[in-house]
Amino acid sequence: MLKFDFNTYVNSFIDEKEYKKLMEKKDEITKKLNDNPMTGWTERIEDSLIEQIKDTAAFIKNNFECMVVIGIGGSFLGSYAFDKMLKRYFKDDNFEVIYAGTTLSSKYLDELIDYVKDKNFCINVISKSGTTMETTITYKLLKDVLKRKYDATEVKKHIIATTDKEKGKLREEVNEEGYTSFIIPDNIGGRYSFMTAAHLLPLALNYDLDEIVTGYYRGKRLDDYAYQYAVTRNLLFKKGKVVENFCVYEECMQPFTEWLKQLFGETEGKEGVGIFPASTVHTRDLHSLGQFVQEGNKIMFETFFKVEEDENYIDYENRNLHEINNIVEDSVARAHFRGGVPCLEIVLQKLDAETIATMIYFFQLSAAYSGFLFGIEPFNQPGVEVYKKEVRDSLAN
Ligand code: PA5
Repeated sequence: MLKFDFNTYVNSFIDEKEYKKLMEKKDEITKKLNDNPMTGWTERIEDSLIEQIKDTAAFIKNNFECMVVIGIGGSFLGSYAFDKMLKRYFKDDNFEVIYAGTTLSSKYLDELIDYVKDKNFCINVISKSGTTMETTITYKLLKDVLKRKYDATEVKKHIIATTDKEKGKLREEVNEEGYTSFIIPDNIGGRYSFMTAAHLLPLALNYDLDEIVTGYYRGKRLDDYAYQYAVTRNLLFKKGKVVENFCVYEECMQPFTEWLKQLFGETEGKEGVGIFPASTVHTRDLHSLGQFVQEGNKIMFETFFKVEEDENYIDYENRNLHEINNIVEDSVARAHFRGGVPCLEIVLQKLDAETIATMIYFFQLSAAYSGFLFGIEPFNQPGVEVYKKEVRDSLAN
């Protein structure tokens, strides 16, 4: 369950009339969303696909020691963030999932190859386009490791591809080699692809897919809040608050802020508009960026994440440490607000699979609404394509 407070530390920054005016546009904005062809992520995933993903996950767990997920941007951040929020910090006994494909660092890739070369690992390569440079390079390097160990028939058993149903080099390879494969549907873009095999297969290795699916579609009930969040952000932007700082009080939520940055950054940042998404982990960053937020340039507003209940009870001088963490959260929001920084709050009753999945749907919906409020197309990312082409051209010379 999620709760929202977009008023207490925000209201004085927002003009009531302007708020009402944008709220009245809800039907128009909803129609824009419904008419857009890239909204497959709002539709119910097929039960047969969930079963197929579970079967493949069972096969992987029975046959391999670990899986390397290779993908970047929307093709990895959802499952990566979800996994980090739920796994233990220490002595984790989850099936080992390694996320790679996000760097061209020789140091990282050399060490990764060294780490997996003697393990019985499989690869889940994920790319909707099937052409992304980082994914392609990492995949080739790891496939070479498999080729050095196994014959061609065995190599094929170690590769699972998640990609477009017919386009791209990766799909061509799947068709030639006959790998197990999954589809990222045409009507779902990378950062909106959480409820597809791109994220559900890595997650099915360690988490209950039924809980994830239930939680995700529960997010539909938060439609009004998602719109309110989009409207509030839009009005703050118009007041010169052009940066949104996502503040988390659980270290394990830091990767989730990376997912948020990608979702909002790629959805809104077009045609000279958009809110720049940033993040801080508290209380750590209160001892660094906290100074800027409190007294520096007033370009930002913040969205705080509070986890209401935590089953890990730690007594600190007769007080529950988790309560202390939450008291700190409230106090910081108040202090920043008094320093001229509007603070919105999202409360998660618990940090569990259902709530996280609900939150993912909520933010996808809100980001889409926000894109339409800004008057841009939320589901493309032409700016990212520019860099991809530039690199391809440079490497071809
Ligand atoms: O959200 C998006 O569409 C992007 O971030 C992509 O997910 C990212 O660029 C990776 O693309 P691909 O899945 O085609 O490799």
